[in-house]
Amino acid sequence: MKKYIALLSAFVIGCSTTQTQIPEEKKAKIEEIGEKNAMVLLKTLKGELIKAMSEGGAENALTVCNKKAMELTQQVEKETGVQMKRTTFKYRNPANAPDKYEKEALEYFEKSIKEGKFPKNYIQVVNENGVLTYRYYKPLKVEPICLTCHGEVIDEKLAAKIKSLYPSDKATGYKDGDFRGVVRVSIPADKIQ
Ligand code: HEC
Repeated sequence: MKKYIALLSAFVIGCSTTQTQIPEEKKAKIEEIGEKNAMVLLKTLKGELIKAMSEGGAENALTVCNKKAMELTQQVEKETGVQMKRTTFKYRNPANAPDKYEKEALEYFEKSIKEGKFPKNYIQVVNENGVLTYRYYKPLKVEPICLTCHGEVIDEKLAAKIKSLYPSDKATGYKDGDFRGVVRVSIPADKIQ
C-alpha cells in the first residue's frame, strides 16, 4: 500500500518516481514491453544504417541518418503503439536533447558506470501530458560501426558534412564501449495491469 501512496503522491506533485518504488510484478511487465519495443527501434535504425553504408559509404549513411532517423522512429511508434525517443547529453540533433526526467535517467547510468556497473535498464513513473506513464530506458553502447560518425577521428569530408548539417554537434569523441545515451520507451500506465 505504501508503494501505491508514493506513486500517487509523485503523480500529484508532478515529479518522477524511480524504479525502487514500483511493485516487482509491474516492473517485470514494464521491462518486457520496454525491452521488446526498444529492440524493434534499434534493429530498424541499425538495419537502415548498415544498408546505407554498404550501398554508398559513410556519406550516404549520414544523409540517411539525417533524413530518416526521426521518420523511422515515428514509423516504429505507429507499429508498436508506444512513444519512443533516443536521447543523450551529447546530442547531434538538438531535437534529441533530454528533458528533466531523461536527464535523471542519463545521470543514473553515468553514475552507475563510474561505479563500475552497467545497469541494463532504468524505469520511472512520470506524468506525460496528464497521462500516468512508465518510462523504460535502455542504455546504448558505442560499437565499432558507430565510430565512423561518432568517434574520436572522423574523416575530414564527413566531418565537414556533419558540421554543415549539425552546427552545434556534440556527438563525437566516443570510443568503442562508451555509454552513448538511451532509448526511452513510454508505456501508458493503463497498459500495465
Ligand atoms: C553514418 C553516420 C552515423 C553512424 C555510423 C552512426 N550514427 Fe548515430 N547519428 C548520426 C546522425 C546524422 C544523427 C542525427 C540524426 C537526426 O538528425 O535525427 C545521429 C544520432 C544518433 C543518436 C540520437 C541522439 C543524437 O545524438 O542526436 C544516437 C543515440 C546515436 N546516433 C547513436 C549511434 C550508435 C549507437 C551508432 C552505432 C550503432 C551510430 N549512432 C552510428 C550519424 C551516424
